[in-house]
Amino acid sequence: MQTDVRPESMPRINTPALAEAFIEEQIKEIRAQVGDGKVLLALSGGVDSSVVAALLIKAIGKQLTCVHVNHGLLRKGEPEQVIQVFRNELNANLIYVDATDRFLDKLAGVDDPETKRKIIGKEFIDVFVEEARKLEGISYLAQGTIYPDILESKDGIKAHHNVGGLPEDLQFELVEPVKLLYKDEVRCVGKALGLPDEMVYRQPFPGPGLGVRCTGAITRDRLEALREADAILREEFARDGLDNDVWQYFIVVPDFKTTGVRKGQRCFEWPAVIRAVNSIDAVTAEPAELDWPLVQRLTERITREVPGINRVLWDITPKPCGTIEWE
Ligand code: XMP
Repeated sequence: MQTDVRPESMPRINTPALAEAFIEEQIKEIRAQVGDGKVLLALSGGVDSSVVAALLIKAIGKQLTCVHVNHGLLRKGEPEQVIQVFRNELNANLIYVDATDRFLDKLAGVDDPETKRKIIGKEFIDVFVEEARKLEGISYLAQGTIYPDILESKDGIKAHHNVGGLPEDLQFELVEPVKLLYKDEVRCVGKALGLPDEMVYRQPFPGPGLGVRCTGAITRDRLEALREADAILREEFARDGLDNDVWQYFIVVPDFKTTGVRKGQRCFEWPAVIRAVNSIDAVTAEPAELDWPLVQRLTERITREVPGINRVLWDITPKPCGTIEWE
């Protein structure tokens, strides 16, 4: 069993050879820990849970069951990619739950950001628990805990359990194969495991997802406009090779409308806000200096292609005093 302390002698995993050695060692450790037991994993599609899933699939194959909960607040194409990579390519036991209606119904009319976060967090646990109860003979819960989570939970900054708050009668032994790794090492291992670059080098994405970028009370039409505009932003950033350069970039669609003109007719639609920041640790952040032609292209495409958006704004506020997210 691993301890929670990273030994000083442990090398920084930054080459394919070191990643391969780590993978081999973890396969042995995982097999030794779980034997022929069954393991459950909440697979978000983020790099940490994806790397844990890929490691476990290599070690124990179908003894692992992954549950991917689509809360309806994921970015365009994300649930499809999880299904493609894990079910179709890695042949994983994957339970896909489209809980969009459930989440959006619970969130209807709720405009307070922290209440929105609480509803999303609680509903996530509820859906996960319902799926877990349908399964039999699960003894282990795998988690994508990484070393900074351990350090922060030691310092009392946050509880590190990704799926914390499970009910008393549903407690599992934890399997946390990347808990001694830093983020860059997790990415290096993910690359060696053959996961696609979009997963391995994914920008940080908050648990409440697009829910905190569709400000105020979420509506389905505005959420859809946000998802489409965000997809255009990601596409254009990738076209300019910025996808691995800018730390975090996304669109916010606030809950107010402004006047515009389309084909000689007055239109009253939402603005889309571009937010692109560079940061090391998310504690402070600087706005990314985007080239003007990119900003113009984004404005042109978003206002032409996304129904309901007639204006594009660019948020150039550093943190402090603006947080990265708008809510
Ligand atoms: P802020 O907006 O506080 O964000 O400057 C700092 C970083 O944290 C992410 N973030 C969240 N991540 N759950 C998460 O898992 C949340 O509720 C949440 N809120 C913000 C944000 O995307 C940024 O990377």
